Amino acid sequence: MRKVRIAVLVSGGGTNLQTLIDAAEKGDINGEIAAVISDNENAYALERARKHGIKAIYINRKQLAERLIIELQRLDIELVVLAGFLSILDRELVKAYEGRIINIHPSLIPSFCGKGFYGERVHKAALEYGVKVSGATVHFVDEGTDSGPIIFQEAVPVYFEDTSETLAARVLQVEHRLLPAAVGLFCEGRLRIEGRKVKILKEEV
Ligand code: GRF
Repeated sequence: MRKVRIAVLVSGGGTNLQTLIDAAEKGDINGEIAAVISDNENAYALERARKHGIKAIYINRKQLAERLIIELQRLDIELVVLAGFLSILDRELVKAYEGRIINIHPSLIPSFCGKGFYGERVHKAALEYGVKVSGATVHFVDEGTDSGPIIFQEAVPVYFEDTSETLAARVLQVEHRLLPAAVGLFCEGRLRIEGRKVKILKEEV
């Protein structure tokens, strides 16, 4: 089966990206990471890409709306994965890639998500609220923020003595499993969006 051409969009350290690189190299996903694109030229995630011979592209935040879709089309990208990407995608791009953009978010959506909820802020809000579970969500991207159809979720316990660092580390372990699993199913054609829900098919139709 031909490998799906994937672009991973990043802004930070890229540990989620690394799990996708490893999975693709091991053949655990039927996909090829054709490019890693960042809105932060110092993102270590770009270095991770370079170490694996993957095209690493920096696009200034101000030029994203104009240049990102051009790069994706030039690279013949079939799946866009947001892995710690902090900029909001242009509506035109979301429309053009409807059903082909996957995001990982470090909470159980619809809790602690949406505008302003990213990275450590998500875990701080969960701790301040006093929740007993948090977790990670992998979902398709729609025109909202963290609001598209959910592919996978998995909960983790929250302990009284947790800090945002200890909670983030526990959630990140779940992220590192859920994201490659979701991307793998997409690359096998086994994810079907039905309204707000995502059906996981036994095999590709
Ligand atoms: C992760 O918590 C991810 O959920 C969030 O950004 C954080 C850093 O991810 N979106 P990474 O190490 O850069 O993949």
